[in-house]
Amino acid sequence: MNSKNIIDSYKAYDASVPRNMIGWMRSNHAGETGAVWIYIGAQFIFWNRPIIKMSKEHYLTEKKHLIVMRHLVKRTQRSKLLILWRILGFGLGFVSAAFGYRFFCTTIQAVETFVEKHYKEQIEFLYKTSSSYNLLEVLNICCNEEIDHQVEAKMSKGSEIFKFEKIWFSFVGSGSSLAVNISRFI
Ligand SMILES: [Fe+2]
Ligand SMILES: [Fe+2]
Repeated sequence: MNSKNIIDSYKAYDASVPRNMIGWMRSNHAGETGAVWIYIGAQFIFWNRPIIKMSKEHYLTEKKHLIVMRHLVKRTQRSKLLILWRILGFGLGFVSAAFGYRFFCTTIQAVETFVEKHYKEQIEFLYKTSSSYNLLEVLNICCNEEIDHQVEAKMSKGSEIFKFEKIWFSFVGSGSSLAVNISRFI
């Protein structure tokens, strides 16, 4: 699929971004950049087959999300800290994958749980203000795919949770939230 087809399949071609959504959209673009790099980092743990399989699949989806965000967020509106989001994404993917499949899944579940909340906030805002139905639809498609990632990670890991995983889970959640909030502004 080329970029145009991808943008079309997310119904993003003529989606308009209202002024008051620019900060949010900047954070979406930054977040999808980080997500792509999480899965690039994880693929360095090349001997772990389940990690490679999940990373390859998720990478393709995140890459599409990034293409959509690139279409919707002009160069001048993008985060000035993209290098940092790439490094942090890469580091998170690499380190969590180095600790094995289960730990990696916990990390992905935490990231995607945050991303779901982040997209839902925007969807709700667009719905309430009825400012751009097109954009709402785009975000909705992305959000559903993030939920798929989250559910997949959760199922692969099993339901039992260890204490340190809980701590890691909330650490990753707060870290993602901090990064995304910074990228709303710079
Ligand atoms: Fe994504
Ligand atoms: Fe995702």
